[in-house]
Amino acid sequence: MSDLISNDLNMIFKSPNGGVVHALKDIKFTLKKGQLLTVLGPSGCGKTTLLNIIAGFIRPTSGQITLNGNEINGPGVERGMVFQQGALFEWLTVAENVNFGLRMKKEDPIITAQKVEEWLNIVGLQGLNNTPTYQLSGGMQQRVALARCLINNPDLILMDEPLGALDALTREKMQYLILKIWKETGKTIVLITHSVEEALLLGEKLYVMAPRPGRIHKEYNLPFASMGLKEDLRNIKNLKDFTSKREEILTMIWNMEEEIMGKDN
Ligand SMILES: Nc1ncnc2c1ncn2[C@@H]1O[C@H](COP(=O)(O)OP(=O)(O)O)[C@@H](O)[C@H]1O
Ligand SMILES: [Mg+2]
Repeated sequence: MSDLISNDLNMIFKSPNGGVVHALKDIKFTLKKGQLLTVLGPSGCGKTTLLNIIAGFIRPTSGQITLNGNEINGPGVERGMVFQQGALFEWLTVAENVNFGLRMKKEDPIITAQKVEEWLNIVGLQGLNNTPTYQLSGGMQQRVALARCLINNPDLILMDEPLGALDALTREKMQYLILKIWKETGKTIVLITHSVEEALLLGEKLYVMAPRPGRIHKEYNLPFASMGLKEDLRNIKNLKDFTSKREEILTMIWNMEEEIMGKDN
């Protein structure tokens, strides 16, 4: 029962000029507790729409999605979000960002402070409790965003291009941190990314989506996320199995984009 199950989900947006966008068509999948799913696909294929439905921010046109057997009808504390860089409460300190959810729930301040320490340690920000978040680098801000989400102990973590704005080296460090947190907490994670490498490295399961209408085009079950916990991510990126899948998916997405251009012209 502790699965995320999507059953023939459809999302149709109506535009003001009377047109319709079939943003998601017949999306069907089961994600088991503790799995890490990455979702990849060209711009406009419905990735954010799918995540927003799972988060409960929007309702699908038809079909349903359940978590632990309960239909998702709106936002809930059992689901945590990590957005792209720039979604922190900038006017608050690191600790005030991280403890935000617990303060809202009026948790005991001593326990809250202990949990903040614990999470700042895990994400590598110990000692920065009182630093205003606008003074932090992009990578450090995303560490705060992870801690702010995880301190609430959600069952499911949803991330929409969380590392998209980071430089390559910082991104690699954060990829490892996400794998480490996944391993240590056993959380179920859905991570959306634009990067083929990132989708391959982090996804135990990977969906490549296609646009117009947005749908799951291909599904992979991958060994690299488990390997990444033991081995340098850079070595994994050089494996033959990795590079051949990367080329296969790049070609797949290239062809989808060519097809869209063809439709538009
Ligand atoms: N609120 C909305 N109203 C109308 N169309 C929307 C809305 N949100 C998204 N869309 C359209 O749905 C499609 C999928 O969008 P989105 O989920 O943001 O794609 P992605 O995140 O993969 O880039 C796009 O064509 C987009 O323009
Ligand atoms: Mg998006």
